[in-house]
Formats: sequence, C-alpha cells, structure tokens
Amino acid sequence: MGKVIAVSNQKGGVGKSTTVVNLAAVLGAKGKKVLIVDFDPQGNTTTSFGIRKKSIRNTVYEVLMGECTAFEAVVATEFRGVSMIPTTQRLSGATAALMNMKDKAKKLDTALEQARDFYDFILIDCPPTLDMLTINALVAANSVIVPLQCEFLSLEGLVELNNTIERVKKNFNEGLHYEGILFTMYVERYKVTGQIVKEVKKYFPKQVFETVIPRNIALSEAPSFGMPALYYDKKSKGSKAYEALAKEILKNEKKRRE
Ligand SMILES: Nc1ncnc2c1ncn2[C@@H]1O[C@H](COP(=O)(O)OP(=O)(O)O)[C@@H](O)[C@H]1O
Ligand SMILES: [Mg+2]
Repeated sequence: MGKVIAVSNQKGGVGKSTTVVNLAAVLGAKGKKVLIVDFDPQGNTTTSFGIRKKSIRNTVYEVLMGECTAFEAVVATEFRGVSMIPTTQRLSGATAALMNMKDKAKKLDTALEQARDFYDFILIDCPPTLDMLTINALVAANSVIVPLQCEFLSLEGLVELNNTIERVKKNFNEGLHYEGILFTMYVERYKVTGQIVKEVKKYFPKQVFETVIPRNIALSEAPSFGMPALYYDKKSKGSKAYEALAKEILKNEKKRRE
C-alpha cells in the first residue's frame, strides 16, 4: 500500500509546490509510481508540469465532490513515474460546498482509497490555509512534510500548524506523523537562518530533515519551462538537494518498516 504525504504550510511562497514537483520527479525517476494531488486552487503544480488548464476535464474538485473517481481525474505527465490529479480555480469553491456535507473532513481520504493501492507515493500539494481543504489533506495523509523558510515568525506558523495536526490526529487520523520539517530557500550565510534552525530544532528535535533545500535559481526557473529541476538542470544544487531528500525519505521509510 502506498504512502500518502501531505505537503503543508499555511503560509504561501514557502516552497510547497516546488517540493511536491521536485520530490515527485526524483521518486518517479527512481522507479516509484507517484501521484500528485494538486490541492491548491492556484494550480501552480498543475502549471509546473506543463499541463494546460484548458485540456483538463476532471479535476480534484470533482473527485472531492464524488462526481468522478480519482482514476477518472488522473492525467499522465511527461516525466517518468509521475501522474497527477490537476486542479483549477474551481477548487476555491470547495470549502463552502463542503460546509454542510456529512463527513466533510473525510472526502479526500475516501476518494483516494483505491488509488492508495496503485501508487507508491501520493503527494498532496496543500493550499496556504488551515481550512477544510487542508484538513481533508491531513485526514487522507499518512505523514506531513512542512516546508519552512528561515524567517521571522516561521516558528509561530509552525506551532499553529502543529496544533492542527494534533487535532486531526485526535479526531480522525491517529497514525498521522511528521515525515519531516524541511528548510527551504536555505541561505547559510544569513544570520537569521541559524537562529530559526536552532529555535525550530528546540521545539521539534526529531522532526527536522537532515536535508536542506538551498535557494537555487534552477528551482525557480524550471516551472516556467513546464518541468521539474531534475529534467531542467540535473546538476543544479536544487535538483541534487531534492535527490537527497528523496533518499532520506526512502531510508526513513525502510527504517519504519523494519
Ligand atoms: N529553493 C528554492 N530556491 C529558489 N526559489 C525557490 C525555491 N523554492 C521555491 N522557490 C520559488 O519561490 C516561489 C514560491 O515557491 P512555491 O513552491 O510556489 O511556494 P508555495 O507552494 O509554498 O506557495 C516560487 O516562485 C518558486 O519558484
Ligand atoms: Mg503552492
């Protein structure tokens, strides 16, 4: 059975979509079957894979509302091992639509049930909110990756997200755990970087990934060419960092299963 990983942080611009796209590409290239669920109405991940919004028929919105199955919304990407359930702006109406539904927190979990058996990894790109969409992602997930930029107030946001994770664990999903907290756009020479890393490790000593993702131009350029950094510039520091992250995740997974 595959592992479902939610990539979440309620702050925008911290590297969620970049992490989903590049981690998926690396895992796919290693021979894993990967499904991306683009769960952010902005659809950056859908665009990053060069999927044209006009060509999309079913989206994660229809999946969530039970109007089609997950498989009916899956589109292939050009990249080895990676498929995705795309999104459009329509998803922004989902929170309101879910409001009066029964089991509204479990819709995504239920919708992904069959897909879990089919893929090795399902990566959910969460919106920059802590609303019902993110709750659905956390209920469906086995684990969470939290991309974190080293800046003032990062820890406050992390504590708030951690409270949400704890609530989801208590009410819906006992087994939910941290895959890891991931420092992104990391610049070692900035003084604030060391301060934030120290602070975060104090509160979350076991949850921080060894791998850090440096600020790297290839990672920011690749999406405009509709490709992950692995295919845009394999030798870039950014691409190599996501390879290291994939290795770390696979190693941890192996340990957990032993
Ligand atoms: N490690 C990095 N180095 C340089 N630019 C990055 C890096 N990670 C993300 N970016 C850029 O920062 C912006 C925000 O990243 P994104 O992944 O879209 O964040 P989120 O999904 O959390 O909103 C994007 O323009 C992206 O290309
Ligand atoms: Mg995003």
